Amino acid sequence: MIAKAAGSFELVDTHTHLNDGKFAADCDAVIERARAAGVTRMINMGDTLASSEQAVRLAEQHEGLYAGVGIHPEEAFEMTAREDDILAAWAKQPEVVAIGEIGLDYYWEKDPDRRRLQQRIFIRQLDLARQLHLPVCIHDRDAHGDTLSILKREGQGLRGVLHCYSGSPEMAREFLKLGWYLGVDGPLTFKNAAKLPEVVKAMPLERLLIETDAPYMAPVPMRGKRNEPAFVRFVAEKVAELRGCSLAEIAQVTTRNAEDLYAL
Ligand code: NI
Repeated sequence: MIAKAAGSFELVDTHTHLNDGKFAADCDAVIERARAAGVTRMINMGDTLASSEQAVRLAEQHEGLYAGVGIHPEEAFEMTAREDDILAAWAKQPEVVAIGEIGLDYYWEKDPDRRRLQQRIFIRQLDLARQLHLPVCIHDRDAHGDTLSILKREGQGLRGVLHCYSGSPEMAREFLKLGWYLGVDGPLTFKNAAKLPEVVKAMPLERLLIETDAPYMAPVPMRGKRNEPAFVRFVAEKVAELRGCSLAEIAQVTTRNAEDLYAL
């Protein structure tokens, strides 16, 4: 398909990690390239206390950059009221639009005690999001069953997204029924994308968010390179191809979805 020139549409990268060391040398240039590619807004997610603070600081410095604050499951530790207060203080900053990324990762974590710790920290941050009326950005890797049951049990009154969705079409329907959004990124463009294209074809577009999860998992044709927010366009193009829509239409609806969920 012939892509429209940048500037005629607007995209939002709803999930990126600009605090990653891979951007240490050229973060400003990366943000500029994103803007030049039509990616006018980006949500930069924290995964530790330190990177959450960095995400807030970076968002303060750049127009169109927003932050999520939270503890990633791989970084889970026994939080105390003190750490709750630190996260809550950052979460109240005007640039912060989400608690994230939070969730469960059973791919990397096999130890049952550590998995239970992940669950406790996940639930604790869901509570924080509810108190602060913020949406949540959820990481779920090889933990679809527990993620779904925790959200059913502990997610009342919350809105959010299953970021980098990797579950089955059946599981997708369950999350959608509960009112959650699904976020898709580079893997949608991979040859071994498995069931994901099927999920994207069948789901309501009003619940779809596009993202990069940069610096990892760069979409085709950049696969294998460092990922960056400008590349979210390749994810949008793949969605457009699967849905038989124009890139401009996908840009419009996914941008509106990001604005709705994150109150941008
Ligand atoms: Ni991420």
